[in-house]
Amino acid sequence: MSEINLGLGNNDIVTRKEAESDFIAFWEKQAKNLSWFSTWKKPLDWNPPFAKWFVGGTINASYNTLDIHQNKANKPAILWEGENGESKILTYKDMWTQVQKFANVLKSLGVQKGDRITIYLPMIPELPISMLACARIGAIHTVIFSGFSAAAIKDRICDSKSKIVITADGGYRRGNIIKLKEVIDEATKDFDFVQNVIVIERTKNKIILSSKDMLWNELMNDISDTCIAEKLDSTHPLYILYTSGTTGKPKGVLHGTGGYLTHLYSTFKWAFDIKDSDIFFCTADIGWVTGHSYMVYGPLLHGATEVMYEGAPDFPDASRMWEIIQKYKVTIFYTTPTALRMFMKFGDELPNSFDLSTLRLLGSVGEPINPEVWKWYFKIIGKEKCPIIDTWWQTETGGMMISALPGLETIPLKPGSGTRSIPGLDISVVDEVGNDIPPNTKGYLVIKNPWPGMLLTLWGDDAKYRDVYWSKYKNCYYPGDYALRDIDGYFWLLGRADDVLKVSGHRIGTAELESCIVSHHNVAESAVCGIPDELKGEVIIAFVVLKQNVTKDTLILEKELLIKIRNDIGAIATPKQIYFVAKLPKTRSGKIMRRLLKSIANNETIGDISTLEDGAAVSEIQSVFEELQKSIQKKSD
Ligand code: WT7
Repeated sequence: MSEINLGLGNNDIVTRKEAESDFIAFWEKQAKNLSWFSTWKKPLDWNPPFAKWFVGGTINASYNTLDIHQNKANKPAILWEGENGESKILTYKDMWTQVQKFANVLKSLGVQKGDRITIYLPMIPELPISMLACARIGAIHTVIFSGFSAAAIKDRICDSKSKIVITADGGYRRGNIIKLKEVIDEATKDFDFVQNVIVIERTKNKIILSSKDMLWNELMNDISDTCIAEKLDSTHPLYILYTSGTTGKPKGVLHGTGGYLTHLYSTFKWAFDIKDSDIFFCTADIGWVTGHSYMVYGPLLHGATEVMYEGAPDFPDASRMWEIIQKYKVTIFYTTPTALRMFMKFGDELPNSFDLSTLRLLGSVGEPINPEVWKWYFKIIGKEKCPIIDTWWQTETGGMMISALPGLETIPLKPGSGTRSIPGLDISVVDEVGNDIPPNTKGYLVIKNPWPGMLLTLWGDDAKYRDVYWSKYKNCYYPGDYALRDIDGYFWLLGRADDVLKVSGHRIGTAELESCIVSHHNVAESAVCGIPDELKGEVIIAFVVLKQNVTKDTLILEKELLIKIRNDIGAIATPKQIYFVAKLPKTRSGKIMRRLLKSIANNETIGDISTLEDGAAVSEIQSVFEELQKSIQKKSD
């Protein structure tokens, strides 16, 4: 693999050395970059698998992102670009005022420290304002991506028992209005514990207001703009963010405050080499963790200026991102491989016709970036002068774990590799039983030490937290990813090792999708798997076994299932193909053989099935395999 030698920062080898000799003291030193109301008594309380960072210290996330920057109150915090071309600038002063006012609104509605608040909003400034207002008074925000359906929201609101829901009348998406308030009405209709729904009028579409509903503008009208930030314990929960996993139900990842902010402050500085003059642009939606960590908390902790874009990246056409970069003179651009593959498809002419010369650093996140895409990004967008940081992390890790760090050190980059781990972390690649494996061998990624941004637990489910992340290897965190380490110690992330699919960088749990399909009254069984896709990284294929005596036309059934999936989960979980089959390949104990399904869907040969787990009946599997292949063949003819 060719090496590209580009770096921006000074070589701070001291930092890595320090980190290796005492990771706790190292993180303690980083934590001192934040403003604490009172300092901690113990840097780390490690009671595996539960870590408490900076125990006894008190801090506030809203204070650290807003109050401390009031010496440069007129600096823009958010340069907001609406989908339809509107724009708005919110300075650090504006944000501070709005957040304090909204924090007072929440208080006036009886919100107390520890209460949960669900936020279901499009990418408008009220979204970060709501989050920071929660953080200011110690309420726990739980943001739900505005593409999720009523049924998916219902599960999440029920799990978090949110007292208040914040939404908008509608949101713009590719010129259409998505009626968010209607979705929330449907999702909350059975929940008496939801005391109020606060509605922002974004699109001015007609909405019906019930006695619970209140308008944002009216609430903000006559309220004090002073609200002192609560002194919160470092381990006080900041937010819950639901993510799909290997089990049917989404998991509520719970993040704390002091450790999480320390992780973000440090990684934002090291990875993006942030300067006061930078214009940062992250294309993620705040509904996902990238938006939480690197649009809300990371940049604002540094008093940075960032672009926030409301709409679809290809609206009105595929040059929208380049137009925004030119318009706002963006210097740092952070996006996903799926978006890059889409832009790449439209050719070089579009980006070449915009002035992208202000760019100095490019980032990628969410899924493996193929070397061809990496090189296109480097050449066409970065004009061969911007380093690319490929950042590996997860909702659960809170912040980046593997990435090149131009703000810290100069190292050669390799297209497709995330390079090395963040200092202060102990990351390895191990075999099935947990032994470190030789370079260039594929194995499982593990994290051997606690780190400051790590999740506190899963909301209301410590047992599941242990089971999902800490049971495969003793006292090691298991992220569920395949990886290898090359002879230079660089990590290459090789995709999920578990039953989690990654479609356009978004996590879809196979079990969640299967249980949705099976809940259709004509369906007996179902299995889903992912197959590689040029654009989305991976797409979903579903195999469905119908109940006996179902005579309905499969075209009608297919339509019904697609609608059901959209309604129960959301459009992101839509399978590319649904195959109706007579049987699924299973082991003797009844486990669906996903590896086999994947080979079938990928049109591969069956391979050696005599070694398959549980001693499945080889001839039986062989015949199911052939039957499945036939049905796929029939469909593509
Ligand atoms: C999973 C986490 C990271 C925030 C957005 C997604 C995959 C993430 C990379 C990368 C290869 C990556 C992993 C990980 N992933 N970044 N740079 N290279 N794979 O967060 O939804 O929690 O998903 O995304 O499989 O486990 P998430």
